[in-house]
Amino acid sequence: MEGAVLTRRGLLVGIGAVGGAGAMYAAMGALGLAPAEQDKTFDPPRPGDFSLRGRGAATVVVLGAGVAGLTAAYELGKAGYDCTLLEARAKAGGRNLTLRGGDRLTELNGPAQEVTFGEGVYFNAGPARLAPWMLAMDYCRELGIPIETFVNNNAQAYVHTNGRTVRARTARADMYGYVAELLAKATDVGALDRKLTKDDQERLLDFLRRFGDLGPKHDYEGSPRRGFVKYPALDTGTPIALPGSLREVLAAGTGRAITNDFGHEQATPMFQPVGGMDAIVTRLAEAVGQDRIRTGARVTGITTLDDGVEVTWDGGRIKADYCVATLPPHLLARIPHNLGTQITAALKTPVPAATGKIGLEYGTRWWELEDRIYGGVTETDLDITHIWYPSHDYHAERGLLVGYYNTAEHAELYGALTPEDRRHRALTQGKKIHGEKYRTGLLSSVSIAWDRQEHIQGGWVRWPAVDSSFTLLQRPSGRVYFAGDWLTHLIAWQAGSMESARSAVTQLHERVMRSS
Ligand code: ALA
Repeated sequence: MEGAVLTRRGLLVGIGAVGGAGAMYAAMGALGLAPAEQDKTFDPPRPGDFSLRGRGAATVVVLGAGVAGLTAAYELGKAGYDCTLLEARAKAGGRNLTLRGGDRLTELNGPAQEVTFGEGVYFNAGPARLAPWMLAMDYCRELGIPIETFVNNNAQAYVHTNGRTVRARTARADMYGYVAELLAKATDVGALDRKLTKDDQERLLDFLRRFGDLGPKHDYEGSPRRGFVKYPALDTGTPIALPGSLREVLAAGTGRAITNDFGHEQATPMFQPVGGMDAIVTRLAEAVGQDRIRTGARVTGITTLDDGVEVTWDGGRIKADYCVATLPPHLLARIPHNLGTQITAALKTPVPAATGKIGLEYGTRWWELEDRIYGGVTETDLDITHIWYPSHDYHAERGLLVGYYNTAEHAELYGALTPEDRRHRALTQGKKIHGEKYRTGLLSSVSIAWDRQEHIQGGWVRWPAVDSSFTLLQRPSGRVYFAGDWLTHLIAWQAGSMESARSAVTQLHERVMRSS
């Protein structure tokens, strides 16, 4: 750029080309063109809010010490609200559950599992990845939780569809290659003449040649992008066999498997807290104060009154000025309350979804040593759906794979099996991709069926339609506020729980500030 005039636009384009969007965005912030923080809408309650008005802080009972409940209590606590959290489970965290050696996992109508993982091995049984734009990242920063990259897309991982296993890079190269060839040839024979000018067709062809790695006549004839049996070094290496025909590539049905990370929620890079996702729970609970969290407290009644809220649980009764209810809606709906039939009907609207995962612990990281897979996901059309490889502690002695992560009928199928049969089935499926070592090298396993987790009973929920029930519950009923990922368009993400908690806190605090 030496000698050139650095216009603001030119500078941004230049940085963008080299450093990618992140660098460009940071530079925009430095130039005052973009907000330094993404979320400008949330103004957390401050300690001065009460003292300025000469009033004492209100009391709040928070139902559920999952991520939504903890976030609500954490934010309210900043202004000195006196929060009590009632949690039915034995420990805080809800679905943010990391299992380690020495833990015991119980489930409804099933045997308990003792977790015997070795030192340093852990299994994020619930949430396991964060997108960079999500609020969970801001809480990691604020709470001092170190994060590391979660490899969500790995060209070296496999795609297993219709009984065939290929590397993800191969599946992508072939699909992109043939699609580019088709479109380029359609352009060449004038099929797009009515749509595009000649100039635009040239621009399109320029892109397609790059996208598909096409030859001079716009044929796709394979590409080094597909990978090698022996990678180039002193010699040119040994490419893997040439691609099949377009028909064969289409018949392989790799579509879903190679587009999984295209969406805004799953695009690379993603992140995870170092040492386990439950660091978010641990740090939030510390900040809230462990003494404020009453575990083993199953809520049995909620009564909103003119001057407060009364909550009973199977061990006592508490009266507070306000309540933030963060339990799963299908469970909340069953708790006797005086909030009216419309609230009950709204709470019953979202449908819980089954999800399941199994953690498979191995004595050696053969996927790193033999398959050269360091993190990432193998996508399959089997009932295991995905195999996840760990994105941390590379080259450590032991490691843990996620041997299935499935939803809907596949999750129900596995959930209905005993833990032993789940493992057996997961190994039989994974062996189709990784061979015998998948079975023989296993040290231990633990599986979770979220619909069988007591006081949770679902991986997440699905709204048949985002209708008036959804918006009704985003507002308080009497002195009861609702919060959870289920009240956002970020269902099944901790960021949803956090955004929703912030919304409840904002509404509650504004009301307290307005009240005389
Ligand atoms: N948040 C869930 C996931 O990352 C849906 O798989």
